[in-house]
Amino acid sequence: MEITLRVFRYNPESGQTKPRYDTFTLQAEPTDRILDLLEKVKAYHDSSLSFRRSCAHGVCGSDAMRINGRNALACKVLVRDLNTDKITVEPLLGLRVIKDFVVDMEPFFDSYRSIMPFMVNADQPADGKEHLQSVEQRERFDDTTKCILCAACTTSCPSFWANDQYVGPAAIVNAHRFIFDSRDGASEERLNILNEQNGIWRCRTAFNCTEACPRDIHVTKAISEVKKAMREGVGH
Ligand code: SF4
Ligand code: F3S
Ligand code: FES
Repeated sequence: MEITLRVFRYNPESGQTKPRYDTFTLQAEPTDRILDLLEKVKAYHDSSLSFRRSCAHGVCGSDAMRINGRNALACKVLVRDLNTDKITVEPLLGLRVIKDFVVDMEPFFDSYRSIMPFMVNADQPADGKEHLQSVEQRERFDDTTKCILCAACTTSCPSFWANDQYVGPAAIVNAHRFIFDSRDGASEERLNILNEQNGIWRCRTAFNCTEACPRDIHVTKAISEVKKAMREGVGH
């Protein structure tokens, strides 16, 4: 089938003052991924097109972008999923464009780092052996271990668009992963960090984050569990 692909282009370093869109007509299979189309453009039409990719299988989280207006991983969306032969691809909203689809992820990772995304060992068990964890205790944070830090959630959030200092759903998801881990000893500290001015209360339960997550994480549910833990305690 023939695809008309509109591609966002912007290279501020070259003196370009405004973004533009380039249009390419490509032959594609319905089972081609949007990433395949971008690779085709780069290989046969314009080698200066810039985008991030690594695994090409929905694991590394590097190729999140807007595809026909919705955040997704370019390697996970097939041409046939879009039900149209007109496809527009644009960079994530709310992060500075460095070139084409390459956005500055540093503010996103600053928010991630701010919630202490690492295990702080809780008190050692009296027998000096490992921390045991029941299946039920593990299940409390199982969903949020799936995050690949692609930023699709945070950059689809209207509260983040309105205020880029908001810590964002991705950071809260990763805080959730440790807050509800019975082996961790820093839940209170993380809750205090998220209780600050640009923390979790900026979330207005818009659900865009849940819809955007390519790992099907129940992002809004995780956020509401953290809000509840602030009121009632973590309870492990
Ligand atoms: Fe990506 Fe989902 Fe993690 Fe957000 S929660 S960064 S959308 S994997
Ligand atoms: Fe934003 Fe998700 Fe909350 S889209 S407002 S973080 S539910
Ligand atoms: Fe790794 Fe798409 S290239 S998630």
